Amino acid sequence: MNSVSIVEWNGLKAVKVDGKFADAVVTLHGAHVVSYIPKGGKDLLWISKKCVFTDGKSLRGGVPVIWPWFGSAGKPSHGLARLTDWTLTGSMLCDCGSVRLDFSFTPVQPEWKFLSAKLSVTIGKKLKLELTSLNSGTKDYSLTQAFHTYFAVSDVSKVRVTGLEDAEYLDRVAGDTKRQSGAITFDSETDRCYISTADAVIDDPGFGRRIRIAKSNSGSTVVWNPWIEKARKMADFGDEEYPEMLCVETACAFDQAVTLKPGVPYTMTSVISAE
Ligand code: BG6
Repeated sequence: MNSVSIVEWNGLKAVKVDGKFADAVVTLHGAHVVSYIPKGGKDLLWISKKCVFTDGKSLRGGVPVIWPWFGSAGKPSHGLARLTDWTLTGSMLCDCGSVRLDFSFTPVQPEWKFLSAKLSVTIGKKLKLELTSLNSGTKDYSLTQAFHTYFAVSDVSKVRVTGLEDAEYLDRVAGDTKRQSGAITFDSETDRCYISTADAVIDDPGFGRRIRIAKSNSGSTVVWNPWIEKARKMADFGDEEYPEMLCVETACAFDQAVTLKPGVPYTMTSVISAE
């Protein structure tokens, strides 16, 4: 009933799970969940038809792991973890019917070697992602990170995101700070970092589903859709694809950075489910 196999997926080595509750594919490149399909349902994740599958490049879709920095806090943008292979350290079939995959990553760059990460991906009725960071250096490190999850939606202009009502956010398109009023709807480029620890829900009447994103140890939720002009500028994103996707990212970004103390692990968790 549950099977775990190593496969080649678009030229990348990947772990394929045919589970009791869901099927999933996770590439070693970036420990990147590229597909999560609850049994009898549709994929919760989106991936671009223009996605490039090469070492040194992030995949445009699925769940890029943004670590150990978010955005342009350092170079390259959105960190090192999404660009190269992680090590698969274990897989476990739980009695409950879920499958857990464990990955680890240590940057090869000498200046970042004091940091390491472990990612556990549990594929069950829900998709659970647990990212543990460890600082083996001698000084505090200001960690920013995200599960940059690309969700598949029927039409972004018809979905609503709830759970962030009244939250303050950094509007990265307008370059100012605002407070959310009511549910989030989409009619133009959206790039916002909400200060929130709450669950967010994507309400998608077109697909007849609600995707819940629950989380812990994450002080920010990034909501992103590039819309028309920005999509056109991205080589790995189809010009007509922006209505099909929406990123709702479990994050510790900007002022919600975490102080990673030497020897003290920090685990950020995201639990994704369709209702
Ligand atoms: C989002 C950022 O998290 O990621 C956006 O808020 C950015 O500003 C987007 O454009 C995509 O980033 P990238 O590096 O994957 O093209």
